[in-house]
Amino acid sequence: MQGTIELVAARKARLYARCASAAERGGWSVERDIAWSEVDRDRAHAKPEVLAALRDAALIESYHPVNLARLMRATWDDVDASVVFSLELYEGFKHFHALRWYLEAVAYEPAITDEELVDIRRSQAEVEVTRDEVIERLVEFMLSEHLAHYFFRRLGEQAEDPVLADLLGRIASDEVRHAQSASDIIAKRIAADASLVPRVLDAALDFHHFGEQAIGTVPVAQPGDPIAIQTFARRIERLCGVRLVDHIKQGF
Ligand SMILES: [Fe+2]
Ligand SMILES: [Fe+2]
Repeated sequence: MQGTIELVAARKARLYARCASAAERGGWSVERDIAWSEVDRDRAHAKPEVLAALRDAALIESYHPVNLARLMRATWDDVDASVVFSLELYEGFKHFHALRWYLEAVAYEPAITDEELVDIRRSQAEVEVTRDEVIERLVEFMLSEHLAHYFFRRLGEQAEDPVLADLLGRIASDEVRHAQSASDIIAKRIAADASLVPRVLDAALDFHHFGEQAIGTVPVAQPGDPIAIQTFARRIERLCGVRLVDHIKQGF
């Protein structure tokens, strides 16, 4: 009996098991949980800027197989990281699938084509992440997910079609979980090697959203969304135990 309890405790302590169980709890179905038959085309087109942003977001989500494949290759010896990226690949696919579905449901033009998706991947397809830049790429990934949460949340607040608002709320919740999983992976690395702390801080100050590789520019936050930026800094400070402003003062 003792052995069974210990086994259960060991399983619960595994980082990847915690991430997988959070993913199970937050899971939703593109097919069953979205009220596709109630999509309101007129209300959707009342906000063309929201639809344009949705299209960009779908393109960025479709780019994960390039971005995450190289991160997975560079972290093959980290079992937890492999699981986090696998879950991200699946849920990122779901986001892409649902966003494209919505745009097609409201007949948004220009429609996304598979050729366009492949073109976006082409320029980055051969780029690799080397093992000595893994920590910087992990920070980039975590902060991109963090900002994606605020991006989808704000977009959902602007959406006039309740079906879209619901879909964006679900995606936004997934992105918080993704940012937290990435944060856990980074925390594990910092616990094993405290000399990574200044590199994590530098990477945050030098942040570029990975989606820039896909579509050129990505709004870091919606105008007037200081909370996204404040929590961005807080996420890094919690991980590093150092304030970003103090790191800047030390002349990073
Ligand atoms: Fe996503
Ligand atoms: Fe994500």
